[in-house]
Amino acid sequence: MTFKTIIEPFRIKTVERIRLTTPEEREAFLQNAHYNPFLLHSTEVIIDLLTDSGTSAMSSEQWAGIMRGDESYAGATSWLRMEKAVQDLTGCPYILPTHQGRAAEHLLYSRIGGPGKVFISNTHFDTTRANIEFSGAMAIDCPIPENSNPSLLHPFKGNLDIGKLEENITLHGAANIAAVILTVTNNSGGGQPVSMENARAVSNICKKHGIRFILDACRIAENAWFIKHQEAGFENVSYREIAQQMFALSDGCIMSAKKDALVNMGGFLALRDLDLAVICRTVLIVTEGFSTYGGLSGRDMEAIAIGLEEVFDTDYLNYRIKSTAYLADKLHALGIPIMRPAGGHAVYVDARAFYPDIPLDQYPGQVMACELYRLGGIRCCEIGSVMFGKYDAEGQLIPAKMDLVRLAIPRRVYTQSHVDYVVEAFGELAKSRDQKDGFRIAYEPPFLRHFTARFEPAS
Ligand code: F0G
Repeated sequence: MTFKTIIEPFRIKTVERIRLTTPEEREAFLQNAHYNPFLLHSTEVIIDLLTDSGTSAMSSEQWAGIMRGDESYAGATSWLRMEKAVQDLTGCPYILPTHQGRAAEHLLYSRIGGPGKVFISNTHFDTTRANIEFSGAMAIDCPIPENSNPSLLHPFKGNLDIGKLEENITLHGAANIAAVILTVTNNSGGGQPVSMENARAVSNICKKHGIRFILDACRIAENAWFIKHQEAGFENVSYREIAQQMFALSDGCIMSAKKDALVNMGGFLALRDLDLAVICRTVLIVTEGFSTYGGLSGRDMEAIAIGLEEVFDTDYLNYRIKSTAYLADKLHALGIPIMRPAGGHAVYVDARAFYPDIPLDQYPGQVMACELYRLGGIRCCEIGSVMFGKYDAEGQLIPAKMDLVRLAIPRRVYTQSHVDYVVEAFGELAKSRDQKDGFRIAYEPPFLRHFTARFEPAS
């Protein structure tokens, strides 16, 4: 028989203390942080769902690898191990190690971007867009229309809209398209997966027009789970082979190893084109480090090589995706409006729908993030009008498309009782939703305001 209970497929060998704060303490911490959870200290947080990036627990094998790390400047064995692990997985011959994902983005997009160039993606992640726009190029998001309806069920809501892709190629001219980027899973679009059929269609169109096709692959193992279980023809293909098939469709990839390589720091750029690899490698040596370590220590590279194997373990991936769905299902059963179906690494709560009476210029997502902290010491991230809002000529807020709150789940860190605690906090949140007041911004920097903005109660 198969058991219904999904257990964490690991035992805990080292523990990290969580300080259980009181509501009074949390109120004071929140005021000190100017109602911005980014400004809280980690010791003030009970459950930290701010990000799944760099927050994974490493395995005993990875920690053993840390001790084996070869810190030689050139040609370290740890580099050779990481290079081989990435080559075997991606099928790309040229691997450039970097200290994290955005550094790999910088290497590639600063070279192939520039004024007049256009990038098209299912959804560019913030740092991807920032690197592209910083080069002077333009970044166009073309998610399928289903993506912008939080409650609409679709198995591959992260797909790229093929019709819009073709329209944009005609509009801008194939020669001006620097790359099509498929982000798997689609983080900024709700952590939703991309189907193999969609990746194949994108690849075929790119080939037809001679356009470069790049994967932003930081959650490709999680994406592979959805393909195996939700796309016909993949039932008997392993998660790793599914990922390999998707890589095979592309001309290269960028990966932040802080996600599906199960490490706290690292990334890489993998390419098939030698000429492009040579150009990017020059930037690597100038900005990151020599080509056999990039921005990484030998021990980091050792841990990445091991993490890239472990992440495709059947029991791990099954637990990972099902435990995210567990949280989503419980919140849905409580009547909390969430983006459905659940993504791989996070549950996105629709704060705009939860607080219909809070005006958008009083930031319902920020209210939810602060309330969750007050109630349970839970830290999460507003992904809405604080992060993406702009002002019109009169200084009025142009709100973001949606006001979501992301509950990102660190890998192998929290147990089911932690998740049940989060669900209970949402139960409490729902009881007091009508009495909540919004926020106004007391201070904001000119760029990326969500990290350091200060808020105060609107009344
Ligand atoms: N691409 C995607 C899809 C990402 O989610 C991230 C990071 C990056 C690239 C950049 O990688 O952080 O290693 O430089 N996402 C983190 C998050 C920050 O919280 O979602 P990085």
